Amino acid sequence: MTRYAHITGWGMAVPEAILTNADLEKMVETSDEWITSRTGIRERRIAAKNESTATLAAKAGLRALESTGLLARELDLVIVASASPEHLFPATACLVQDALGATRAGAFDLSAACSGFIYAVQMAAQSIRTGAIDSALVIGAETLSRLVNWEDRETCVLFGDGAGAFVLEARETPGGVLSGVLRSDGSGGSLLTVPAGGSRMPASADTLERNLHTIHMNGREVFRFATRVMATATREVVAGAGLKMDDIELVVPHQANLRIIEAAARGLHLPMERFMVNIERYGNTSSASIPMAVCEAVEQGRVRPGDHLVLVGFGAGLTWGALALQWVETRRPPGVQRSRLTLWTFLAHLRSFALRVWRRLEGLFWGTSSEG
Ligand code: COA
Repeated sequence: MTRYAHITGWGMAVPEAILTNADLEKMVETSDEWITSRTGIRERRIAAKNESTATLAAKAGLRALESTGLLARELDLVIVASASPEHLFPATACLVQDALGATRAGAFDLSAACSGFIYAVQMAAQSIRTGAIDSALVIGAETLSRLVNWEDRETCVLFGDGAGAFVLEARETPGGVLSGVLRSDGSGGSLLTVPAGGSRMPASADTLERNLHTIHMNGREVFRFATRVMATATREVVAGAGLKMDDIELVVPHQANLRIIEAAARGLHLPMERFMVNIERYGNTSSASIPMAVCEAVEQGRVRPGDHLVLVGFGAGLTWGALALQWVETRRPPGVQRSRLTLWTFLAHLRSFALRVWRRLEGLFWGTSSEG
Protein backbone atom coordinates (compact mmCIF):
# COMPACT_ATOMS: atom_id res chain seq x y z
CA MET A 1 0.00 0.00 0.00
CA THR A 2 1.26 3.50 -0.87
CA ARG A 3 1.03 5.86 2.08
CA TYR A 4 0.18 9.52 1.65
CA ALA A 5 0.57 12.27 4.26
CA HIS A 6 -2.66 14.26 4.41
CA ILE A 7 -3.49 17.43 6.29
CA THR A 8 -6.52 16.30 8.23
CA GLY A 9 -6.75 19.13 10.76
CA TRP A 10 -5.80 22.79 11.05
CA GLY A 11 -6.12 25.52 13.65
CA MET A 12 -4.70 28.87 14.67
CA ALA A 13 -4.48 31.09 17.76
CA VAL A 14 -3.60 34.77 18.08
CA PRO A 15 -3.44 37.06 21.10
CA GLU A 16 -6.32 39.46 21.58
CA ALA A 17 -4.28 42.64 21.89
CA ILE A 18 -3.89 44.58 18.65
CA LEU A 19 -1.04 46.99 18.02
CA THR A 20 -1.90 49.33 15.14
CA ASN A 21 0.37 51.48 13.01
CA ALA A 22 -1.16 54.49 14.79
CA ASP A 23 0.01 53.00 18.12
CA LEU A 24 3.53 52.61 16.69
CA GLU A 25 3.54 56.25 15.60
CA LYS A 26 3.51 57.09 19.32
CA MET A 27 6.44 54.75 20.06
CA VAL A 28 8.99 55.41 17.26
CA GLU A 29 9.49 57.90 14.44
CA THR A 30 7.30 56.28 11.81
CA SER A 31 3.94 56.72 10.11
CA ASP A 32 0.99 54.59 9.12
CA GLU A 33 1.61 55.72 5.53
CA TRP A 34 5.26 54.51 5.57
CA ILE A 35 4.46 51.13 7.13
CA THR A 36 1.46 50.43 4.91
CA SER A 37 3.12 51.45 1.67
CA ARG A 38 6.47 49.69 2.39
CA THR A 39 5.11 46.49 3.97
CA GLY A 40 1.33 46.16 3.63
CA ILE A 41 1.00 45.80 7.41
CA ARG A 42 -1.75 47.72 9.24
CA GLU A 43 -1.79 45.95 12.60
CA ARG A 44 -0.30 42.99 14.46
CA ARG A 45 -1.17 40.94 17.55
CA ILE A 46 0.91 41.16 20.72
CA ALA A 47 0.99 38.42 23.38
CA ALA A 48 -0.34 39.27 26.83
CA LYS A 49 1.87 38.78 29.90
CA ASN A 50 0.35 35.36 30.61
CA GLU A 51 0.82 34.19 27.01
CA SER A 52 3.94 32.72 25.45
CA THR A 53 5.03 30.71 22.44
CA ALA A 54 4.02 27.46 24.19
CA THR A 55 0.54 28.66 25.22
CA LEU A 56 -0.25 29.94 21.71
CA ALA A 57 1.18 26.73 20.21
CA ALA A 58 -0.93 24.54 22.49
CA LYS A 59 -4.08 26.52 21.67
CA ALA A 60 -3.52 26.25 17.91
CA GLY A 61 -2.56 22.57 18.29
CA LEU A 62 -5.71 21.80 20.27
CA ARG A 63 -7.91 23.50 17.66
CA ALA A 64 -6.21 21.51 14.88
CA LEU A 65 -6.70 18.26 16.81
CA GLU A 66 -10.34 19.05 17.61
CA SER A 67 -11.03 19.52 13.91
CA THR A 68 -9.89 15.94 13.16
CA GLY A 69 -11.47 13.82 15.85
CA LEU A 70 -7.98 12.38 16.53
CA LEU A 71 -7.15 12.19 20.22
CA ALA A 72 -3.97 13.77 21.55
CA ARG A 73 -2.93 10.45 23.04
CA GLU A 74 -3.06 8.87 19.57
CA LEU A 75 -0.45 11.30 18.15
CA ASP A 76 2.97 9.89 17.26
CA LEU A 77 4.89 13.15 16.95
CA VAL A 78 4.73 16.83 17.94
CA ILE A 79 7.00 19.31 16.15
CA VAL A 80 7.07 23.01 17.03
CA ALA A 81 8.82 25.30 14.57
CA SER A 82 9.77 28.58 16.22
CA ALA A 83 12.27 31.41 16.12
CA SER A 84 11.10 32.53 19.57
CA PRO A 85 10.93 29.28 21.56
CA GLU A 86 9.90 29.20 25.19
CA HIS A 87 13.47 28.37 26.34
CA LEU A 88 16.79 27.26 24.87
CA PHE A 89 15.69 23.98 26.41
CA PRO A 90 13.45 22.14 27.13
CA ALA A 91 11.87 22.20 23.71
CA THR A 92 8.60 24.12 23.36
CA ALA A 93 7.24 20.97 21.67
CA CYS A 94 7.67 19.04 24.94
CA LEU A 95 5.64 21.66 26.84
CA VAL A 96 2.93 21.43 24.18
CA GLN A 97 3.03 17.61 24.24
CA ASP A 98 2.43 17.73 27.98
CA ALA A 99 -0.27 20.43 27.82
CA LEU A 100 -2.23 18.45 25.22
CA GLY A 101 -1.72 15.04 26.83
CA ALA A 102 0.00 13.57 23.78
CA THR A 103 1.40 10.87 26.04
CA ARG A 104 2.89 8.57 23.40
CA ALA A 105 4.28 11.25 21.07
CA GLY A 106 7.90 12.17 20.47
CA ALA A 107 8.41 15.94 20.60
CA PHE A 108 11.07 18.30 19.32
CA ASP A 109 11.59 21.89 18.18
CA LEU A 110 12.72 22.79 14.71
CA SER A 111 14.82 25.89 14.14
CA ALA A 112 14.61 27.24 10.61
CA ALA A 113 13.17 30.68 11.49
CA CYS A 114 10.36 31.79 9.16
CA SER A 115 10.85 28.70 6.96
CA GLY A 116 10.41 26.46 10.01
CA PHE A 117 6.83 25.39 9.32
CA ILE A 118 7.68 24.30 5.76
CA TYR A 119 10.65 22.30 7.07
CA ALA A 120 8.58 20.73 9.87
CA VAL A 121 5.67 19.67 7.64
CA GLN A 122 8.12 18.13 5.16
CA MET A 123 9.84 16.18 8.00
CA ALA A 124 6.51 14.94 9.35
CA ALA A 125 5.23 14.01 5.87
CA GLN A 126 8.41 12.05 5.10
CA SER A 127 8.09 10.16 8.39
CA ILE A 128 4.45 9.32 7.61
CA ARG A 129 5.20 8.18 4.07
CA THR A 130 7.99 5.84 5.21
CA GLY A 131 5.65 4.22 7.73
CA ALA A 132 7.74 5.35 10.71
CA ILE A 133 4.70 7.19 12.15
CA ASP A 134 0.99 7.45 11.40
CA SER A 135 0.24 10.95 12.68
CA ALA A 136 1.92 14.22 13.61
CA LEU A 137 0.96 17.59 15.01
CA VAL A 138 3.06 20.31 13.36
CA ILE A 139 2.91 23.82 14.83
CA GLY A 140 4.48 27.14 13.88
CA ALA A 141 4.35 29.44 16.91
CA GLU A 142 5.93 32.78 17.77
CA THR A 143 6.04 35.58 20.29
CA LEU A 144 8.50 37.72 18.36
CA SER A 145 7.26 40.77 20.28
CA ARG A 146 9.53 39.48 23.05
CA LEU A 147 12.61 39.63 20.78
CA VAL A 148 11.94 42.96 19.12
CA ASN A 149 13.83 46.13 20.01
CA TRP A 150 10.89 48.49 20.46
CA GLU A 151 13.18 51.45 19.75
CA ASP A 152 14.31 50.15 16.36
CA ARG A 153 11.77 51.42 13.80
CA GLU A 154 13.24 49.26 11.03
CA THR A 155 12.22 46.02 12.75
CA CYS A 156 9.58 46.76 15.39
CA VAL A 157 6.93 47.64 12.80
CA LEU A 158 7.26 44.29 11.05
CA PHE A 159 6.67 41.47 13.50
CA GLY A 160 3.67 40.03 15.37
CA ASP A 161 2.67 37.07 17.54
CA GLY A 162 0.55 34.01 16.73
CA ALA A 163 0.46 30.29 16.06
CA GLY A 164 -0.87 27.93 13.42
CA ALA A 165 -1.02 24.13 13.34
CA PHE A 166 -1.63 21.18 11.03
CA VAL A 167 -2.45 17.59 11.93
CA LEU A 168 -0.95 15.22 9.39
CA GLU A 169 -2.16 11.63 9.08
CA ALA A 170 -1.38 8.64 6.89
CA ARG A 171 -4.04 7.80 4.33
CA GLU A 172 -4.28 5.52 1.28
CA THR A 173 -6.06 8.22 -0.76
CA PRO A 174 -3.58 9.93 -3.15
CA GLY A 175 -2.89 13.58 -2.30
CA GLY A 176 -1.72 15.51 0.75
CA VAL A 177 1.93 16.63 0.73
CA LEU A 178 3.09 15.91 -2.83
CA SER A 179 6.61 17.35 -2.84
CA GLY A 180 8.94 19.54 -0.80
CA VAL A 181 11.97 21.75 -1.40
CA LEU A 182 14.22 22.72 1.52
CA ARG A 183 17.21 25.03 0.95
CA SER A 184 19.69 27.05 3.01
CA ASP A 185 22.63 29.45 2.72
CA GLY A 186 24.37 29.94 6.06
CA SER A 187 26.71 32.53 4.57
CA GLY A 188 23.83 34.99 4.96
CA GLY A 189 23.34 34.22 8.65
CA SER A 190 24.30 37.69 9.86
CA LEU A 191 21.60 39.38 7.74
CA LEU A 192 18.89 38.44 10.23
CA THR A 193 19.92 37.41 13.71
CA VAL A 194 19.49 37.65 17.47
CA PRO A 195 23.20 37.86 18.29
CA ALA A 196 23.20 37.27 22.06
CA GLY A 197 21.69 34.73 24.41
CA GLY A 198 23.24 31.63 22.86
CA SER A 199 26.59 29.93 23.51
CA ARG A 200 28.51 32.30 21.23
CA MET A 201 27.50 35.39 23.21
CA PRO A 202 25.84 34.45 26.51
CA ALA A 203 23.47 37.06 27.94
CA SER A 204 25.34 39.59 30.10
CA ALA A 205 24.92 43.16 31.33
CA ASP A 206 26.93 44.26 28.29
CA THR A 207 24.73 42.39 25.75
CA LEU A 208 21.65 43.78 27.47
CA GLU A 209 22.94 47.32 27.31
CA ARG A 210 23.80 46.94 23.60
CA ASN A 211 20.42 45.34 22.81
CA LEU A 212 22.12 42.28 21.35
CA HIS A 213 19.37 39.93 22.57
CA THR A 214 16.93 41.55 20.10
CA ILE A 215 16.37 41.13 16.37
CA HIS A 216 19.06 42.67 14.13
CA MET A 217 18.29 42.81 10.43
CA ASN A 218 19.65 44.09 7.16
CA GLY A 219 16.23 44.74 5.64
CA ARG A 220 17.34 45.58 2.12
CA GLU A 221 19.48 42.45 1.73
CA VAL A 222 16.78 40.21 3.20
CA PHE A 223 14.30 41.78 0.78
CA ARG A 224 16.62 41.03 -2.16
CA PHE A 225 17.17 37.44 -1.02
CA ALA A 226 13.44 36.84 -0.50
CA THR A 227 12.39 38.08 -3.92
CA ARG A 228 15.12 35.90 -5.48
CA VAL A 229 14.13 32.60 -3.84
CA MET A 230 10.31 32.70 -3.65
CA ALA A 231 9.62 32.19 -7.35
CA THR A 232 12.45 29.67 -7.82
CA ALA A 233 11.36 27.49 -4.90
CA THR A 234 7.74 27.60 -6.08
CA ARG A 235 8.69 26.49 -9.59
CA GLU A 236 10.93 23.72 -8.23
CA VAL A 237 8.30 22.28 -5.91
CA VAL A 238 5.58 22.40 -8.56
CA ALA A 239 7.81 20.53 -11.02
CA GLY A 240 8.74 18.06 -8.25
CA ALA A 241 5.07 17.22 -7.82
CA GLY A 242 4.71 16.60 -11.57
CA LEU A 243 2.44 19.67 -11.92
CA LYS A 244 2.44 22.88 -13.93
CA MET A 245 1.98 26.38 -12.52
CA ASP A 246 -1.47 26.42 -14.15
CA ASP A 247 -2.50 23.53 -11.87
CA ILE A 248 -1.97 25.59 -8.71
CA GLU A 249 -5.18 27.09 -7.38
CA LEU A 250 -3.58 28.96 -4.47
CA VAL A 251 -0.10 30.00 -3.34
CA VAL A 252 0.23 30.63 0.39
CA PRO A 253 3.44 32.59 0.86
CA HIS A 254 5.22 33.58 4.08
CA GLN A 255 3.69 36.90 5.10
CA ALA A 256 6.75 39.12 5.54
CA ASN A 257 6.11 42.00 3.18
CA LEU A 258 3.33 42.56 0.63
CA ARG A 259 5.93 43.88 -1.85
CA ILE A 260 7.87 40.59 -1.61
CA ILE A 261 4.67 38.64 -2.35
CA GLU A 262 3.86 40.92 -5.29
CA ALA A 263 7.38 40.45 -6.66
CA ALA A 264 6.97 36.66 -6.42
CA ALA A 265 3.63 36.89 -8.24
CA ARG A 266 5.27 38.91 -11.02
CA GLY A 267 8.16 36.42 -11.21
CA LEU A 268 5.73 33.53 -11.55
CA HIS A 269 3.43 35.40 -13.98
CA LEU A 270 0.50 34.66 -11.65
CA PRO A 271 -2.24 37.13 -10.74
CA MET A 272 -2.34 38.28 -7.09
CA GLU A 273 -5.78 36.62 -6.77
CA ARG A 274 -3.97 33.30 -6.64
CA PHE A 275 -2.00 34.40 -3.55
CA MET A 276 -3.33 34.28 0.00
CA VAL A 277 -2.51 37.52 1.82
CA ASN A 278 -3.44 38.40 5.40
CA ILE A 279 -0.31 40.36 6.35
CA GLU A 280 -2.33 43.54 6.90
CA ARG A 281 -3.86 42.09 10.09
CA TYR A 282 -0.98 40.09 11.60
CA GLY A 283 2.36 41.43 10.29
CA ASN A 284 5.20 38.93 10.03
CA THR A 285 4.50 36.07 12.45
CA SER A 286 7.51 34.09 11.19
CA SER A 287 6.94 30.30 11.34
CA ALA A 288 3.26 30.84 12.19
CA SER A 289 2.41 32.96 9.15
CA ILE A 290 1.89 30.16 6.60
CA PRO A 291 -0.37 27.87 8.70
CA MET A 292 -2.34 30.92 9.89
CA ALA A 293 -2.85 32.03 6.28
CA VAL A 294 -3.91 28.49 5.29
CA CYS A 295 -6.47 28.42 8.14
CA GLU A 296 -7.96 31.73 7.00
CA ALA A 297 -7.92 30.68 3.33
CA VAL A 298 -9.94 27.55 4.24
CA GLU A 299 -12.30 29.64 6.38
CA GLN A 300 -12.84 32.06 3.47
CA GLY A 301 -13.66 29.16 1.13
CA ARG A 302 -10.54 29.74 -0.96
CA VAL A 303 -9.36 26.13 -0.55
CA ARG A 304 -11.62 23.36 -1.76
CA PRO A 305 -11.18 19.60 -1.87
CA GLY A 306 -8.99 18.61 -4.80
CA ASP A 307 -7.22 22.00 -5.01
CA HIS A 308 -3.46 22.13 -5.48
CA LEU A 309 -1.60 24.54 -3.19
CA VAL A 310 1.94 25.77 -2.85
CA LEU A 311 3.19 26.92 0.55
CA VAL A 312 6.44 28.88 0.24
CA GLY A 313 8.60 30.58 2.84
CA PHE A 314 11.99 32.12 3.56
CA GLY A 315 13.78 33.44 6.59
CA ALA A 316 16.83 33.69 8.80
CA GLY A 317 19.56 31.13 8.31
CA LEU A 318 19.26 31.94 5.53
CA THR A 319 16.62 29.29 4.84
CA TRP A 320 13.85 28.88 2.32
CA GLY A 321 11.53 26.15 1.16
CA ALA A 322 8.24 25.18 -0.41
CA LEU A 323 5.63 22.44 -0.33
CA ALA A 324 3.17 21.36 -2.99
CA LEU A 325 -0.08 19.93 -1.60
CA GLN A 326 -3.27 18.51 -2.85
CA TRP A 327 -5.99 19.41 -0.41
CA VAL A 328 -8.17 16.34 -0.08
CA GLU A 329 -11.00 16.20 2.43
CA THR A 330 -10.18 12.97 4.26
CA ARG A 331 -11.89 13.81 7.52
CA ARG A 332 -14.80 11.62 8.47
CA PRO A 333 -17.50 13.91 9.85
CA PRO A 334 -19.77 12.20 12.38
CA GLY A 335 -22.49 10.16 10.73
CA VAL A 336 -20.91 10.21 7.27
CA GLN A 337 -20.51 6.71 5.90
CA ARG A 338 -17.19 5.61 4.45
CA SER A 339 -18.80 5.05 1.03
CA ARG A 340 -20.05 8.66 0.95
CA LEU A 341 -16.56 9.87 1.86
CA THR A 342 -15.02 7.84 -0.96
CA LEU A 343 -17.54 9.32 -3.42
CA TRP A 344 -16.71 12.82 -2.12
CA THR A 345 -12.97 12.21 -2.64
CA PHE A 346 -13.62 10.83 -6.15
CA LEU A 347 -15.67 13.92 -7.08
CA ALA A 348 -12.94 16.20 -5.71
CA HIS A 349 -10.36 14.49 -7.95
CA LEU A 350 -12.71 14.72 -10.94
CA ARG A 351 -13.25 18.45 -10.37
CA SER A 352 -9.52 19.04 -10.07
CA PHE A 353 -8.83 17.08 -13.29
CA ALA A 354 -11.52 19.00 -15.18
CA LEU A 355 -10.07 22.32 -13.98
CA ARG A 356 -6.58 21.35 -15.17
CA VAL A 357 -7.87 20.33 -18.61
CA TRP A 358 -9.87 23.58 -18.85
CA ARG A 359 -6.82 25.71 -18.00
CA ARG A 360 -4.70 23.90 -20.61
CA LEU A 361 -7.39 24.38 -23.28
CA GLU A 362 -7.75 28.02 -22.30
CA GLY A 363 -3.99 28.51 -22.70
CA LEU A 364 -4.01 26.67 -26.04
CA PHE A 365 -6.88 28.59 -27.61
CA TRP A 366 -6.66 32.05 -26.06
CA GLY A 367 -3.01 32.14 -24.96
CA THR A 368 -4.01 33.03 -21.40
CA SER A 369 -1.73 30.46 -19.79
CA SER A 370 -0.09 31.73 -16.60
CA GLU A 371 2.69 29.18 -16.90
CA GLY A 372 5.76 30.35 -15.03
N1 COA B 1 9.28 54.32 9.49
C1 COA B 1 9.73 55.33 8.76
N2 COA B 1 10.90 55.27 8.09
C2 COA B 1 11.61 54.13 8.16
C3 COA B 1 11.19 53.03 8.91
C4 COA B 1 9.96 53.17 9.58
N3 COA B 1 9.45 52.17 10.33
N4 COA B 1 12.09 52.04 8.80
C5 COA B 1 13.07 52.50 7.99
N5 COA B 1 12.79 53.76 7.61
C6 COA B 1 13.56 54.64 6.77
C7 COA B 1 15.00 54.24 6.65
O1 COA B 1 15.73 54.72 7.76
C8 COA B 1 15.40 54.87 5.35
O2 COA B 1 15.71 56.22 5.59
P1 COA B 1 16.89 56.95 4.80
O3 COA B 1 16.53 56.83 3.34
O4 COA B 1 16.83 58.33 5.34
O5 COA B 1 18.13 56.19 5.15
C9 COA B 1 14.14 54.81 4.51
O6 COA B 1 13.07 54.56 5.43
C10 COA B 1 14.14 53.74 3.45
O7 COA B 1 14.69 52.58 4.01
P2 COA B 1 14.78 51.26 3.17
O8 COA B 1 15.51 50.25 3.97
O9 COA B 1 15.27 51.52 1.79
O10 COA B 1 13.25 50.85 3.05
P3 COA B 1 12.67 49.67 2.28
O11 COA B 1 11.76 50.16 1.22
O12 COA B 1 13.73 48.68 1.86
O13 COA B 1 11.79 48.96 3.37
C11 COA B 1 11.86 47.10 4.90
C12 COA B 1 12.40 48.48 4.56
C13 COA B 1 12.48 46.61 6.18
C14 COA B 1 10.36 47.20 5.05
C15 COA B 1 12.18 46.15 3.70
O14 COA B 1 13.54 46.24 3.39
C16 COA B 1 11.86 44.73 4.01
O15 COA B 1 10.70 44.36 4.15
N6 COA B 1 12.88 43.86 4.04
C17 COA B 1 12.65 42.45 4.34
C18 COA B 1 12.46 42.29 5.82
C19 COA B 1 11.89 40.97 6.17
O16 COA B 1 11.01 40.48 5.50
N7 COA B 1 12.39 40.37 7.24
C20 COA B 1 11.91 39.15 7.74
C21 COA B 1 12.30 38.04 6.86
S1 COA B 1 11.55 36.57 7.37
